[in-house]
Amino acid sequence: MKEWKIALVPGDGIGPEVVAEGVKVLQAIEKLDDTLSFEFERFPWGCEYYLEHQKMMADDGIEQLENFDAIYLGAVGYPGVPDHISLWDLLLKIRKGFDQYVNLRPVRLLNEELTPIKSKSEKDIDFLVIRENSEGEYAGAGDWLFKGKKEEVVLQTGVFSRKGTERIIRYAFEEARKQQKSLTSISKANALNYSMVFWDEVFEEVGKEYPDVKTESYLVDAASMFFVMQPERFEIVVTSNLFGDILTDIGAAITGGMGLATGANVNPERDYPSMFEPVHGSAPDIAGRGIANPIAAIWSVAQMLEHFGEEEWGSIVVDTIKEIIDEKKVLTPDLGGKHSTSEVGDYFVEKIAGKLHHK
Ligand SMILES: NC(=O)c1ccc[n+]([C@@H]2O[C@H](COP(=O)([O-])OP(=O)(O)OC[C@H]3O[C@@H](n4cnc5c(N)ncnc54)[C@H](O)[C@@H]3O)[C@@H](O)[C@H]2O)c1
Repeated sequence: MKEWKIALVPGDGIGPEVVAEGVKVLQAIEKLDDTLSFEFERFPWGCEYYLEHQKMMADDGIEQLENFDAIYLGAVGYPGVPDHISLWDLLLKIRKGFDQYVNLRPVRLLNEELTPIKSKSEKDIDFLVIRENSEGEYAGAGDWLFKGKKEEVVLQTGVFSRKGTERIIRYAFEEARKQQKSLTSISKANALNYSMVFWDEVFEEVGKEYPDVKTESYLVDAASMFFVMQPERFEIVVTSNLFGDILTDIGAAITGGMGLATGANVNPERDYPSMFEPVHGSAPDIAGRGIANPIAAIWSVAQMLEHFGEEEWGSIVVDTIKEIIDEKKVLTPDLGGKHSTSEVGDYFVEKIAGKLHHK
């Protein structure tokens, strides 16, 4: 029996609503598979906690999370707390504290009716974005000089270390080799004449060790166009923190919207827990109405199961998501349905129970 300890950080807005459905799915799997068990502990951190305690998480929050096998996060951020505080003092603290330097964001179209792009189908939009997640443009380095004065100057410095750049590019090459897919690097060396020239050089250097992997290199502006016009160009993509953040929102838009996009923050060495979360935010505009789409959060559960080495269960979860979308019977309003968040979760559990799994 394998026992996995999972820390729940549901966060704000629709975060707790969608995490509840992901937990439902894990509990259903636990019932179906007697080789697996999940133990959950919930942490109340987020913006409400901030308003009460003037901090986003407990002072020893990172130590409290350290011994878990995974962290399952909903979303953080809410009107009333500046976004840079909610992001930096919780989400980025966890990503950086646990050296989760790989962000895995699948861009996979599950049903062609979900894409706004004419004449593209499931086979055209199926790739994985590997985003650098620990430094780069989001290193938090900079200064704010002469604040409020006429001479005011703001500096935001990108930090691209040899170690940080090489390890993400190497991870991407390994993944491309394992999956026998092509690897595309996305950068911007014409304008960012230090950081991205360096990125491109490292990509070329590391690539010499992987002659079996076919590579491409695009500028981020051209790549943004190709994401929309010719997404079939991409199989595995590696890019920096900021570019990956923006490009994967395009990825979400071409595959059905924020209610479907998932992301894993991975520490590949497994020295620390990895974190699994839907890409969307706390959606204050629909929070509390029970209509948030839980599928992105359920897809995060699939990524978590893969990380635990339960690839078969990971595929079953994604296949079940696809079935539910194809059926169009039980969906939330963002996908044209009339059902609630928990009705979609319950239906998911019902479907997965129909696939009794023997190991
Ligand atoms: N990872 C995170 O925790 C994260 C990510 C992005 C934004 N945020 C925070 O969330 C707050 C709101 O940000 P935002 O409005 O820019 O982005 P958002 O993702 O919360 O919402 C954007 C739009 O998508 C819709 N949407 C998002 N998730 C949905 C779902 N599961 N089902 C149906 N519709 C969904 C929302 O209703 C909204 O119209 C901000 O405080 C922001 O900082 C947090």
